[in-house]
Amino acid sequence: MSDDVIVTMGSPILYQQAVAITDFSDPQLTLHIDNMRRIKDQKFGVGIAANQIGVDKALCIVGFTGECPRYPSKPAVEEMVLINPEFEPIGDEMVEDWEGCLSIPGMRGLVPRYNCIRYHGYDEQGNELCGELSGFAARIFQHECDHLNGKLYFMRITDLKNFGFEENLQQQMQEI
Ligand code: NI
Repeated sequence: MSDDVIVTMGSPILYQQAVAITDFSDPQLTLHIDNMRRIKDQKFGVGIAANQIGVDKALCIVGFTGECPRYPSKPAVEEMVLINPEFEPIGDEMVEDWEGCLSIPGMRGLVPRYNCIRYHGYDEQGNELCGELSGFAARIFQHECDHLNGKLYFMRITDLKNFGFEENLQQQMQEI
Protein backbone atom coordinates (compact mmCIF):
# COMPACT_ATOMS: atom_id res chain seq x y z
CA MET A 1 0.00 0.00 0.00
CA SER A 2 1.24 3.48 -0.83
CA ASP A 3 2.12 5.54 2.23
CA ASP A 4 -0.58 8.13 1.71
CA VAL A 5 -3.53 5.83 1.18
CA ILE A 6 -6.08 5.57 3.92
CA VAL A 7 -8.01 2.34 4.43
CA THR A 8 -11.73 2.96 3.95
CA MET A 9 -14.97 1.48 5.28
CA GLY A 10 -15.58 -2.09 4.20
CA SER A 11 -11.94 -3.16 4.44
CA PRO A 12 -11.64 -6.12 6.86
CA ILE A 13 -8.72 -4.63 8.84
CA LEU A 14 -11.03 -1.90 10.14
CA TYR A 15 -13.19 -4.53 11.83
CA GLN A 16 -10.35 -6.42 13.50
CA GLN A 17 -9.01 -6.13 17.01
CA ALA A 18 -5.56 -4.53 16.78
CA VAL A 19 -2.61 -6.48 18.17
CA ALA A 20 -1.05 -5.10 21.38
CA ILE A 21 2.49 -3.78 21.00
CA THR A 22 5.09 -5.42 23.23
CA ASP A 23 8.35 -4.37 21.55
CA PHE A 24 8.74 -0.62 21.97
CA SER A 25 12.17 -0.70 20.33
CA ASP A 26 10.78 -1.95 17.00
CA PRO A 27 12.11 0.62 14.46
CA GLN A 28 8.93 0.16 12.42
CA LEU A 29 6.98 1.91 15.14
CA THR A 30 8.57 5.28 14.36
CA LEU A 31 7.89 4.80 10.66
CA HIS A 32 4.25 3.99 11.30
CA ILE A 33 3.87 7.00 13.60
CA ASP A 34 5.47 9.32 11.03
CA ASN A 35 3.17 8.00 8.29
CA MET A 36 0.10 8.29 10.48
CA ARG A 37 0.93 11.86 11.50
CA ARG A 38 1.62 12.92 7.92
CA ILE A 39 -1.62 11.43 6.58
CA LYS A 40 -3.65 12.81 9.50
CA ASP A 41 -2.29 16.30 8.91
CA GLN A 42 -2.65 16.12 5.11
CA LYS A 43 -6.28 15.09 5.39
CA PHE A 44 -7.06 17.41 8.33
CA GLY A 45 -7.85 14.57 10.70
CA VAL A 46 -8.14 15.11 14.44
CA GLY A 47 -6.89 11.60 15.16
CA ILE A 48 -5.83 8.43 13.36
CA ALA A 49 -5.46 4.76 14.20
CA ALA A 50 -2.82 2.39 12.79
CA ASN A 51 -5.32 0.10 11.07
CA GLN A 52 -6.41 3.11 9.00
CA ILE A 53 -3.00 2.93 7.31
CA GLY A 54 -3.18 -0.85 7.07
CA VAL A 55 -1.12 -1.62 10.19
CA ASP A 56 -2.66 -4.13 12.56
CA LYS A 57 -1.17 -2.71 15.78
CA ALA A 58 -2.63 -0.99 18.85
CA LEU A 59 -1.26 2.43 18.03
CA CYS A 60 -3.06 5.72 17.47
CA ILE A 61 -2.62 9.48 17.46
CA VAL A 62 -5.15 11.70 19.21
CA GLY A 63 -5.22 15.46 18.67
CA PHE A 64 -4.10 18.16 16.26
CA THR A 65 -2.51 21.57 16.27
CA GLY A 66 -4.09 24.83 15.21
CA GLU A 67 -7.56 24.97 13.76
CA CYS A 68 -8.96 21.94 11.96
CA PRO A 69 -11.07 22.89 8.91
CA ARG A 70 -13.06 19.65 9.28
CA TYR A 71 -14.08 20.69 12.82
CA PRO A 72 -13.89 24.49 12.70
CA SER A 73 -15.79 25.05 15.95
CA LYS A 74 -13.55 22.78 18.02
CA PRO A 75 -10.57 23.92 20.06
CA ALA A 76 -7.19 22.32 19.39
CA VAL A 77 -6.45 19.11 21.27
CA GLU A 78 -2.83 18.56 22.21
CA GLU A 79 -1.43 15.75 20.08
CA MET A 80 -0.59 12.46 21.82
CA VAL A 81 0.82 9.26 20.38
CA LEU A 82 -0.71 6.33 22.24
CA ILE A 83 0.30 2.72 22.26
CA ASN A 84 -2.06 0.09 23.69
CA PRO A 85 -4.56 2.77 24.75
CA GLU A 86 -7.42 2.04 27.14
CA PHE A 87 -9.94 4.16 28.96
CA GLU A 88 -12.68 4.02 31.52
CA PRO A 89 -15.52 6.52 31.86
CA ILE A 90 -15.57 9.01 34.71
CA GLY A 91 -19.25 9.11 35.60
CA ASP A 92 -21.93 8.02 33.22
CA GLU A 93 -22.64 11.29 31.40
CA MET A 94 -22.92 10.75 27.66
CA VAL A 95 -22.95 13.56 25.10
CA GLU A 96 -23.91 13.46 21.44
CA ASP A 97 -21.91 15.29 18.80
CA TRP A 98 -21.18 15.01 15.09
CA GLU A 99 -18.23 12.88 14.08
CA GLY A 100 -16.50 12.08 10.86
CA CYS A 101 -13.73 9.64 10.06
CA LEU A 102 -10.96 9.67 7.46
CA SER A 103 -12.01 6.10 6.60
CA ILE A 104 -15.58 7.24 5.79
CA PRO A 105 -14.88 10.30 3.63
CA GLY A 106 -17.59 12.91 3.18
CA MET A 107 -19.92 11.57 5.86
CA ARG A 108 -20.90 12.54 9.39
CA GLY A 109 -22.91 10.96 12.15
CA LEU A 110 -24.30 11.93 15.54
CA VAL A 111 -22.53 9.74 18.07
CA PRO A 112 -22.98 9.41 21.84
CA ARG A 113 -19.73 9.27 23.83
CA TYR A 114 -18.72 9.54 27.46
CA ASN A 115 -18.06 13.17 28.32
CA CYS A 116 -15.18 12.42 30.74
CA ILE A 117 -12.73 9.55 30.68
CA ARG A 118 -9.59 8.38 32.42
CA TYR A 119 -7.09 6.99 29.94
CA HIS A 120 -4.02 4.81 30.03
CA GLY A 121 -1.42 3.87 27.45
CA TYR A 122 2.24 4.19 26.51
CA ASP A 123 4.15 6.72 24.44
CA GLU A 124 6.50 5.75 21.62
CA GLN A 125 9.38 5.26 24.06
CA GLY A 126 7.31 2.92 26.20
CA ASN A 127 6.71 5.43 29.01
CA GLU A 128 3.42 5.03 30.76
CA LEU A 129 0.83 7.71 30.01
CA CYS A 130 -2.34 8.37 31.96
CA GLY A 131 -4.66 11.24 32.59
CA GLU A 132 -8.17 12.54 32.22
CA LEU A 133 -9.89 14.00 29.18
CA SER A 134 -13.26 15.58 28.60
CA GLY A 135 -15.35 16.95 25.75
CA PHE A 136 -13.92 16.81 22.23
CA ALA A 137 -10.56 15.38 23.39
CA ALA A 138 -12.37 12.53 25.18
CA ARG A 139 -14.49 12.00 22.05
CA ILE A 140 -11.44 11.67 19.79
CA PHE A 141 -9.79 9.27 22.24
CA GLN A 142 -12.88 7.04 22.33
CA HIS A 143 -13.18 7.15 18.51
CA GLU A 144 -9.54 6.03 18.07
CA CYS A 145 -9.88 3.30 20.73
CA ASP A 146 -12.95 2.09 18.86
CA HIS A 147 -10.84 1.83 15.68
CA LEU A 148 -8.33 -0.36 17.52
CA ASN A 149 -11.19 -2.54 18.74
CA GLY A 150 -12.53 -2.96 15.21
CA LYS A 151 -15.40 -0.50 15.52
CA LEU A 152 -16.38 2.45 13.32
CA TYR A 153 -18.41 5.38 14.60
CA PHE A 154 -21.55 4.60 12.60
CA MET A 155 -21.98 1.45 14.71
CA ARG A 156 -22.72 3.72 17.68
CA ILE A 157 -25.25 6.02 16.03
CA THR A 158 -28.56 5.64 17.85
CA ASP A 159 -30.77 7.05 15.07
CA LEU A 160 -29.43 6.30 11.59
CA LYS A 161 -31.26 9.33 10.21
CA ASN A 162 -28.36 11.14 11.83
CA PHE A 163 -25.84 9.56 9.47
CA GLY A 164 -25.27 10.98 6.03
CA PHE A 165 -23.31 13.09 3.61
CA GLU A 166 -21.78 16.14 5.16
CA GLU A 167 -23.31 18.56 2.65
CA ASN A 168 -26.82 17.39 3.57
CA LEU A 169 -26.29 17.73 7.31
CA GLN A 170 -25.07 21.34 7.55
CA GLN A 171 -28.18 22.54 9.34
CA GLN A 172 -28.33 19.66 11.81
CA MET A 173 -24.61 20.04 12.52
CA GLN A 174 -25.07 23.71 13.38
CA GLU A 175 -27.76 22.92 15.90
CA ILE A 176 -25.23 21.43 18.33
NI1 NI B 1 -11.86 7.43 12.43
